[in-house]
Amino acid sequence: MTAAEAKEKVQELTSQINHHNDLYYQKSKPEISDYEFDQLLNELQNLEKEFPDFRLPDSPTQRVGGSITKEFASVAHQYPMLSLGNTYSAEELKEFDARVAKGLDGDAFEYFCELKFDGVSISLTYENGLLTRAVTRGDGVRGDDVTNNIKTIRSFPLRIKSKNIPDYFEVRGEVYLSKEVFKQLNKEREDIGEETYANARNTASGTVKMQDSSEVARRKLDCYLYYLLGEKNGVETHAEAIKKLESWGFQISPTYRLCKNMDDVLAYIHEWEKKRLDLPLDTDGVVIKVNSLEQQERLGFTAKSPRWAISYKYKAESISTKLNAITYQVGRTGAVTPVAELEPVFLAGTTVKRASLHNANEIARLDLRISDYVFVEKEVRSFRK
Ligand code: IVH
Repeated sequence: MTAAEAKEKVQELTSQINHHNDLYYQKSKPEISDYEFDQLLNELQNLEKEFPDFRLPDSPTQRVGGSITKEFASVAHQYPMLSLGNTYSAEELKEFDARVAKGLDGDAFEYFCELKFDGVSISLTYENGLLTRAVTRGDGVRGDDVTNNIKTIRSFPLRIKSKNIPDYFEVRGEVYLSKEVFKQLNKEREDIGEETYANARNTASGTVKMQDSSEVARRKLDCYLYYLLGEKNGVETHAEAIKKLESWGFQISPTYRLCKNMDDVLAYIHEWEKKRLDLPLDTDGVVIKVNSLEQQERLGFTAKSPRWAISYKYKAESISTKLNAITYQVGRTGAVTPVAELEPVFLAGTTVKRASLHNANEIARLDLRISDYVFVEKEVRSFRK
């Protein structure tokens, strides 16, 4: 094969494989078998090895990794990555609603609700349609350049094919390990006698910072996007931005909803409280954003977070902690109540260190002993051993 032929073949295979990748991951409509796909990828890998100069910036071979990063470069964010104000109560959401209304001088406004995905936030930069950089949140001002690792995630485009895309934009989202993939990973570790990982979020976070991108590729990270940033994106609302991202081939969780007012927001929160447990990934709350971008601008930011958004956190299901002692509390009526003195745990917005055990029968029923590990469930105030 001549160099000219190789160059042409590399181009052809690159666009062919990216097309099939898009059909498989974005459209869920594959047209070739996995075997055929792997054959094409193999062919491209061999050609790139022989002619490394012809490798294109959106080459699909980057999806399988192969690069080693000893130290991730620290880079400044073009737009700082801020955090969100948190709340656990409907009361505080109503206060937020009142602050927004006041900030907008009584003008009408809408909210856009999304689930709060429990993963690792990432910022992707696209220049002339090409993914050029992926940076972790870091301290919000500077993050780590983890581009090679992030390129192994198949659910977003390395090059956007749509017409009329801005020369420069950033898109932010959450990198995660699905519950299914996490379970499988732990099962594999158990089989080879390795210690299992505690939760999907921390494992995703560790994976993003691995040195060997082939290992990252094997871990099968995934990503949901939820924020478009840039100067000329041609959108006026967050809802339009989300639609645009979808049309450019980014993966958006289908769980969002436009809400007319705080009552609709509260209904959304209520509706997803249990339903979210059936989603393919961990979620820990709802993010509520003012929909109009012009109104977002008017509301602005505090030093740490936007005034146009807030997150509502669901109460933790239950958390395990150590029973340090059982003490007895004498009430005003003289009734004696046993109290569990617990190793302090942070649960649903507060630190829990004591809990009523109701009566001696309850202690006997649970066969509770000092140094036992118990589950604390805040909502129902009960124990499970
Ligand atoms: S919007 C300026 N939407 O929560 C606000 N964040 O505490 C931009 N997160 O760092 C964030 N799901 O990592 C937004 N649907 C969602 C989210 C979400 C999870 C994370 C994100 C952010 C943190 C804010």
